[in-house]
Parts: sequence; structure tokens; C-alpha cells
Amino acid sequence: MQDNIKKLSAPTIIQTVIDLRTSVKQARLKNKTIALVPTMGALHDGHMELVRTGLKHANHVIVSIFVNPTQFGAGEDLSSYPRTWDADLEKLTATGAHTIFFPSVDEMYPDGFETTISVSGVSEPLEGAQRPSHFDGVATVVSKLLLQSLPDIALFGEKDWQQLQVIKRMTADLNIPVKITGVPIVRDKNGLALSSRNAYLNEEQYKIACHLNKTLLAMAEKLKEKETIDGVQQWGVAQLKQAGFDAIDYLEICDAATLGKPGIGPLRILAAVKCGKARLIDNIGV
Ligand code: PAF
Repeated sequence: MQDNIKKLSAPTIIQTVIDLRTSVKQARLKNKTIALVPTMGALHDGHMELVRTGLKHANHVIVSIFVNPTQFGAGEDLSSYPRTWDADLEKLTATGAHTIFFPSVDEMYPDGFETTISVSGVSEPLEGAQRPSHFDGVATVVSKLLLQSLPDIALFGEKDWQQLQVIKRMTADLNIPVKITGVPIVRDKNGLALSSRNAYLNEEQYKIACHLNKTLLAMAEKLKEKETIDGVQQWGVAQLKQAGFDAIDYLEICDAATLGKPGIGPLRILAAVKCGKARLIDNIGV
């Protein structure tokens, strides 16, 4: 009963770094362990899974909501990115998050801001090649969020597999004392990975979008049956073209950790496609 009452009370909303630090300090004084779930809002069940996982590992969960301008390229959807504050607040209240950090752009990037965190290697292929400077923006904002809240654990969705590897590399390289945890992709009943950008799909495009995961699953099966990597890759591209996607930004079979050429470690198949206004990414382990 007590637990239910707690879950229904709305999270504390914090907008400044100084208030966030005070709140974390107070939680620490109560011996709380802290989880951070960085988001850009427009929350769906994939985000809620991050919060639920955070609640299993820590007893104070902070969710940041910040549409980070530095990770959007020119011509990308920064201004139209869905902003759904009321619904986000309702979901976070129902899931039991304790704090929402909702800073302004000026709070995160005050006048005179001049620092960029850039991770080489793992951030260069795939998304990095398609969206130059995207991962600089992600690494910079995530390192700021981690240093602002100093959590024990931070949770990221595996849908952004390359982002997760970039963040793991960055926190290891910079000795940021936090455990970075990936949370498996949440999919809808047709296998489409949940994403805030799915809101851009109309009914026809949604049907096309559902072919993405089906193709990746079939490719993984073919690899398990020892078909060649090149053959499977070409087959996958043909399938996606036939499904009717407007563009295939990439479909690659890579080493899961380095995202380089397949080596001796586990493989991951990663794809980015365009379908109308939506750019969709997905990936699967082999
Ligand atoms: O995955 C996202 O939503 C964003 O890239 C993140 C990690 C919140 C950084 O802005």
C-alpha cells in the first residue's frame, strides 16, 4: 500500500544543475543509490523499461528530458522533434521515477560554452558516417549529465546500439565512475522497435517499417546457417529495397563491440532506413 502511494506521487521536477546537485546530495545522505535515465522526452514503453530497470538497480531514479540541439545535424528534425511533456509526466509518475531533470538549452549550454567530447573509432562508421558530429553532441551531453548527477548507474536503450558503445568507451576513457547498462529493445506486436520517431509514420509507412526487424531476424538466421557475410548483407539490402523503404542509409554486419569489420567476437547487424519523414534504426545480435 505504502509502495503504491509512493508510485503515484509525481516526480520532483528540477530545472537547474545546482538544484539537481542538492537533490542528489540529499538522496545520498539517505543512503540512496542513484540511477540516471537520459532521454529526449516523447517517452514510450522503451523509455519506461529503462526506468523500470533503473528501479531494480537503484532506489532513486532520475530521468533527464532534454532535446539536445548539438546532436542534431543541419536539416534534421530538431524543431519538429515531438515534445509531449504532459504525457511524459504522466508516464513517469505511473512508473515511479523520483526526479525529472528538465533543463533549458541555456542551462546546459550557457554563453561561452566551448567544449566538445569526441570519441574516435567506435563513433566513426554507420551513424557517425551518416550524421557527422552526431556522436560528438551525444558524448558531450551525456558526459555533462553524468557529471551533473554523478549516478551509480546510467541506462540506455540497445536500440541505439552504436550510441551505447560510444558511451561505454567514453566513460571508460574518462574514468567517469558510473556503470553503463544497456537495456534490450522494446518492440510493438509487429516487431517494430519503439521509437519517438515512429510517430511520423502513416499507416502505409508503418507496414513498410515492420519489414525492418523481419529482415534483420532473417539475416541472423542465415548467418547462423553459415551463409557468407557478404551474401547475407546483399540479400538483406535487396529485401529492404523490395519492402519499399525510401532509402537505406546502411545495413551492416559488424563486430558487436567495435562496430568494425567482423572479427572473432560476437556479431551485430545494424540498419538505418528512411520511410517518409521517419528515419528508423534497428539492430540485432547474432
Ligand atoms: O538516446 C537518446 O535519447 C539521446 O541520444 C540521449 C542519450 C538522451 C542524449 O541526448
